[in-house]
Amino acid sequence: MIIAIDGPAAAGKSTSAKLLAERLNFLYLDTGAMYRCIALSVIEHKIDIYDESSQKDFISSFNLELKTVDGAPDFLVNGNSVTKKIRTTAISKKVSEISAIPAIREYMVSLQRSFAKNNNCVVEGRDIGTVVFPEAEIKFFIIASVEVRAKRRKLELQNIGETISLKELRRDIKARDKHDSERSHSPLKKAINAIQIDTTEMNIDEQVNYMIKNVNLKKIGKNNK
Ligand code: CDP
Repeated sequence: MIIAIDGPAAAGKSTSAKLLAERLNFLYLDTGAMYRCIALSVIEHKIDIYDESSQKDFISSFNLELKTVDGAPDFLVNGNSVTKKIRTTAISKKVSEISAIPAIREYMVSLQRSFAKNNNCVVEGRDIGTVVFPEAEIKFFIIASVEVRAKRRKLELQNIGETISLKELRRDIKARDKHDSERSHSPLKKAINAIQIDTTEMNIDEQVNYMIKNVNLKKIGKNNK
């Protein structure tokens, strides 16, 4: 079974996807983290990603692995763990631009499908219910107000030692949403059959319980068919 979770930046997708996967004993696949891994490499190696030949060389030399360490996902780029380095504001500012490049997306989507193959999986991103797994059994689309999203992101960043104003976070979040929704290749969009959840006034337990309830309803529906 594939559970697809999409939605704009910092809406609470990762936290709920992780908990949902734990509760259901499913694999958790954070596709945003995968685009962040690419962005990190492009920045670190100063790749001219718009030059066709450096783009090709980069993609063919880029190797991404997903492991589980102490129950948490760990991403390795060419053998090195990068999980701790990909959440910074510098990466957040660059990732939307890089993830809009069609060749990068095509490569990532094939990798995402191969990671989820033969697994029960909670897959989280922007285009999961629309492009990566349009046949997913359950699709959620998570939204929240910009104000609440900025506050949540501020707390997350504090945990990794970054201090950034709410004003700047609001601006970054809005810019990323605009970029992700307006790109021509697989933009952020609610799948027609996705269940929309507005988490502005919900805490994480309420959110996950609501999702589990819907998963169980779906399972009952399936068994009755
Ligand atoms: O955690 P947050 O909501 O800030 O974002 P993320 O899920 O880590 O995703 C980072 C960025 O990757 C997004 O802003 C998108 O530009 C891109 N992304 C995408 O294009 N397609 C996906 N399936 C997932 C992420």
